Amino acid sequence: MSQPLKLPPPKIQVTPSLLGGDFGHLAQEAKRMADAGADALHIDVMDGHFVRNFAICARSVAAINRATDIFLDVHLMIYQPENYIEQFIEAGADRITIHFEASEATADTLLYIRRCNRQAGIAFNPETSANFVLKYLQLADLILFMTVNPGFGGQAFIPEVLDKIRFIRETCDQLHLRKGGVTAHADNPATLKLPAIDIQVDGGINFETAKRCVEAGANVLASGSWLYKPNASAEEDIKAINQLRSLQSCF
Ligand code: DX5
Ligand code: ZN
Repeated sequence: MSQPLKLPPPKIQVTPSLLGGDFGHLAQEAKRMADAGADALHIDVMDGHFVRNFAICARSVAAINRATDIFLDVHLMIYQPENYIEQFIEAGADRITIHFEASEATADTLLYIRRCNRQAGIAFNPETSANFVLKYLQLADLILFMTVNPGFGGQAFIPEVLDKIRFIRETCDQLHLRKGGVTAHADNPATLKLPAIDIQVDGGINFETAKRCVEAGANVLASGSWLYKPNASAEEDIKAINQLRSLQSCF
């Protein structure tokens, strides 16, 4: 067992999911959450094949990128994502998350995304075992645990995923694993300041479910229908984002 190190706790980040917005006004809906102080905008891309729904192509991501400076967190729910990485980078994606279940080339694709100087994320469906996650802890900047079956907004949170989140956060802590796949070590003080690996949750996230996820070790909160309330005022948007961000990580 390694010695405990004093490492910075994961910072809570709020990433509204544009899928919950008004598709007649995507650029305005992106700007709305950027103005309300979101840390990043979560953009869902669906191919009608990996999931039974279609959403947002690279051209739309480029239009959103022109409308706002916010960090773009692109979640690819598509088969063979390795064939589309350049398109989304060109469109302005700052982080690209691919699905473990969608490709045979996930490790190479994560390395490629990083070589392009973008953050690389890997997503896991609710029924995928946490044992498959371990291989990616050093290859990915973000681990996304789906807390609903991917494809649609407005579904109910699946609480069984909490155990997987807890297991992976505890494993990262025990290994002193930081973002970028670096192991923190007392002999190298710079590594002690590195941020923790980001663990994102996506699906059915509201204040109550977010609290449970943060207690389990998640720190990046994607939320669609709960944050994108139709007709909410700018003050209400700011309040909802701050409410999620006020959750404290106990890790
Ligand atoms: C679902 C998408 C989510 C979706 C979440 O497959 O990946 O990002 O927008 O929507 P809510 O928060 O409404 O469950
Ligand atoms: Zn998503």
